[in-house]
Amino acid sequence: MRIITKAREMHDAVEEEKSHGKSIGFVPTMGFLHEGHLSLVRESVQRADVTVVSIYVNPAQFGPKEDLREYPRDINRDTEILEAEGVDYVFSPGNEEIYPVGYKTYVEVHDLQDTLCGHSRPGHFRGVCTVVLKLFNIIGPDIAYFGQKDAQQAIILKRMVQDLNLGVKIEVLPIVREKEGMALSSRNTYLDQEERKAARVLSESLEEAREMVKNGVQDSGQIISRMKDRISQEPRAKIDYVEIVDMENLNPVAKIEKEALAALAVFIGKVRLIDNTILKLKE
Ligand code: PAJ
Repeated sequence: MRIITKAREMHDAVEEEKSHGKSIGFVPTMGFLHEGHLSLVRESVQRADVTVVSIYVNPAQFGPKEDLREYPRDINRDTEILEAEGVDYVFSPGNEEIYPVGYKTYVEVHDLQDTLCGHSRPGHFRGVCTVVLKLFNIIGPDIAYFGQKDAQQAIILKRMVQDLNLGVKIEVLPIVREKEGMALSSRNTYLDQEERKAARVLSESLEEAREMVKNGVQDSGQIISRMKDRISQEPRAKIDYVEIVDMENLNPVAKIEKEALAALAVFIGKVRLIDNTILKLKE
């Protein structure tokens, strides 16, 4: 496994692989890897000839009051894990490599970037799109793997790829959860033991929504208020949003017709956690 920090070197290495007819799978991450990330890595290792994983905590997607400085990092542990998984290249650039002095260009996916997490994290998806486009340009993957955990991110990036004719296939893989239901996240490390217990309320409320739909409830308002009630019973939880939206345009849906995305963001103490599920009506 090669660890590369320079964009030019990364680009040349992949070009060399491509000249031998190799397909390139790419998994962008911010590191501090867990089983959620590794599910994407394993899929790529299995499906593509060459797998590139990027580890880069992207300052452009953090707001001024967010956790950029505290965001957990452990590059040595990450690279050991990735080596054992059979990854071919790790790209871990410094900030000067991605945003050199004089950097001025940003990518925005209008409307989709403003709803759900966009409300409380203005500029977040602009930062995500900008760095992912740059990484795509540096690496030139055939397929890039993303998690359903960040459903809005995946939807926005699919839109960006289509709108900008990027020719990268976006593969979205299911949420990996702990036994108790909590979605794995690097930010879970911020939680103390009591907060971890309290955080179960996110996946529990989504489970409740799925149950309601299974039992024939189609009215989003009814489902959302039940979810909010459930979350409000947990004293450590404070709701940022609970919404049921269209899977493509992220507009709120009043009535669930075929399928819809139930998405939520909840503060547990000071930590903002997100989770979601796809609500499907029985055929
Ligand atoms: P990060 O939070 O490190 O996540 C990297 C990838 O892992 C994302 O596609 C995310 O959806 C996926 N992932 C995280 N937790 C998961 C889980 N429990 N189950 C399945 N997949 C999971 O998302 C980012 O980094 C950044 O925004 C990035 C795309 C790298 C751009 O900076």
